[in-house]
Amino acid sequence: MKTIVANWKMNGSLGLLHQALNAWQMKDSPNIVVLCLPSVFLPAAHNLLHQPNFFMGGQDCHTNLQGAFTGDTSAQHLHDAGCRYVLVGHSERRQYHHESNALVKAKAQAALTAGLTPIICIGESLEQKEQGLTLSVLKEQIEHSVPDNKASDFYVAYEPIWAIGTGLVAALEDIQQVHAFLKKELGARIKLLYGGSVTADNYASILDLENVDGILVGGASLKADDFGKMVQYS
Ligand code: 13P
Repeated sequence: MKTIVANWKMNGSLGLLHQALNAWQMKDSPNIVVLCLPSVFLPAAHNLLHQPNFFMGGQDCHTNLQGAFTGDTSAQHLHDAGCRYVLVGHSERRQYHHESNALVKAKAQAALTAGLTPIICIGESLEQKEQGLTLSVLKEQIEHSVPDNKASDFYVAYEPIWAIGTGLVAALEDIQQVHAFLKKELGARIKLLYGGSVTADNYASILDLENVDGILVGGASLKADDFGKMVQYS
């Protein structure tokens, strides 16, 4: 059983949500499916979900569970709305909102307190990759953005920044090497996702790799047919 995660980012529509959720739930999926949707779509999605292994996730949460933080999203509220998961530390948050490892760690801890499973995103830039720094960058990111209590339930998503939305996917050998490294660092029970230009053409060969417990899919999760195939991976 793999974990297949959709990250719609600030995309999609209510129309697509209805169409896609109906199509994806026509058949039982052998996998865990997590839909990280724009927050305003969560109540609609909650009403449409009926397969037991389909879950909702947020795309970010605040470090506090409540308070005077206009415009932010609380992990507690995501939980109230029916979410079981939340992405934290996505590279777009790190880049556009200047999120540090320490902030990401505090968000992951808030998620755990609220009863959510955080999906902590890490990944190297193209420059770092070209300098051969991939593993040291990832080690630093997990050392500082992963909760202290390794017994907690969380996922780590390896998303090379240069592979996000670019059509450039990491080589299978590189994914394998990075995931073996992360399993060794984090322990076997932490689940690892790969993300970055996963498509209907390459998802199966990525999911077949050892130490890849699932995928985190951006653009292709907005294509109902393509993501529908991923949901059915076996
Ligand atoms: P793409 O699948 O569009 O490359 O996005 C990956 C991503 O950022 C998922 O979180």
